[in-house]
Amino acid sequence: MAVERSMAKRPNWSSGFAFIMATLGSAVGLGNIWRFPYVMGQNGGALFLLMYILLTIFICSVPLLCELLLGKQMRRGVIRSYEKINKKFSIFGWLCFATSIFIPCFYFVVGGWTVNYIFIYLFGTIPVNEISQATFDTFAAQPVAPLIMGIIFLFLCAIFPFRGVNKGIEQANNIIMPLFIIMLFFLAVTGLFLDNSIEGLKFMFQPNVENFTFKTVLTALGQALFTLSVGMGCLVTYGSYLKKDSDIIKSSTLLIIGNTIIAVLAGIMIFPAVFSFNLEPSAGAGLVFITLPKVFAALPFGQFFGLMFFVLLFFAALTSGISLLEVSIAAILEKFKISRKIATVIMSSIILIFMVPTTWSFGPLAGYKLFNMTFFEIMDFTASNILLPLNTIILCVVVGWILKPKMELLTNNKKFYDVFTFLLKFIVPPVLILLMLFGLGLV
Ligand code: TRP
Repeated sequence: MAVERSMAKRPNWSSGFAFIMATLGSAVGLGNIWRFPYVMGQNGGALFLLMYILLTIFICSVPLLCELLLGKQMRRGVIRSYEKINKKFSIFGWLCFATSIFIPCFYFVVGGWTVNYIFIYLFGTIPVNEISQATFDTFAAQPVAPLIMGIIFLFLCAIFPFRGVNKGIEQANNIIMPLFIIMLFFLAVTGLFLDNSIEGLKFMFQPNVENFTFKTVLTALGQALFTLSVGMGCLVTYGSYLKKDSDIIKSSTLLIIGNTIIAVLAGIMIFPAVFSFNLEPSAGAGLVFITLPKVFAALPFGQFFGLMFFVLLFFAALTSGISLLEVSIAAILEKFKISRKIATVIMSSIILIFMVPTTWSFGPLAGYKLFNMTFFEIMDFTASNILLPLNTIILCVVVGWILKPKMELLTNNKKFYDVFTFLLKFIVPPVLILLMLFGLGLV
């Protein structure tokens, strides 16, 4: 009876559209915009894209479906889902929970930077043609300003899980994601009209066998897993709000296709413009906060384009940030039977505390290093190279060998199910172990 009542209370996505927008919102983030296009250009162009697509279909889709399946079957967040398989497995849920604190600690700092750039372009506090490397360096090195921007970003992410799955998370993604896609199309098409835009397209797409090595394959795999938000229980949590009859294969296919198209479009938005003004392509903070402002400085209506780009980047980071927060919120809410609002406040406060040293890694704490890494870099390295692959390996082993997921929750095609379980049990775990060794610099 008690169980039934708690089941009844569990929120559900109100439509298939809402679920796809939410998972797409989680997947599309900084990974698509500031990493994918550059990594593709550096690692063999179209060949990299092909490899990335193949790896996504044959490797990444397996843990992706596995997470959704676990959530759909258990209808719980990560900790309780693992606990329901076996009490002793709750540790694996806690490991995902820990990851969901590690990632926001650096991700939200960058989110704060996007907020700062929105202010700069919106109010014109710095003239567009004076925004430079020094603008970024001076800002990031301050003790207070970047922290305030990070807190604003954290607060904006937290509002939605605080309001609930339907009224908060779902509404945010239903509105933001279509808007994001329209803005992306607009900027990508505009970029193509610039002089020499073809050079940027060549950088991204030209197949280059020389740059295509074994390392490329593992880089593509790591990128695919991160960008699809696999390895932390985001999809377990979002999958737990699915109705029993929802078709997760169809949603995952749409998610994978949509996410890939968006990553490629992000490159089409960025590189033609970068090459058109003879700037150097790069990845990460340098690309979006230093190189692109130079593009906006040279463009007519630069302030408008700059503002639009940073709003777009903010939207991408925001919807991913919401999904990152929801993992830990859903987990402790059911584990300790507290209200959603209290869970949100607790998790936001914990993340806020850890955000202080990551933010200060660019200023007051820049000199403090462990293994030659700043606190920001340690959090990023531990999450991306250790926790995410480890969680994914554990997920595949536990679900494949112990839980043995119900076929009817996935498909009614026996052949498909057999291929899926074969990949899950025998192929994906060793491949992920290889990826983890690579991330640790051991292969
Ligand atoms: N996928 C997002 C990006 O590309 C980041 C992200 C959100 C993520 N949730 C995640 C990464 C869970 C790993 C695990 O930016």
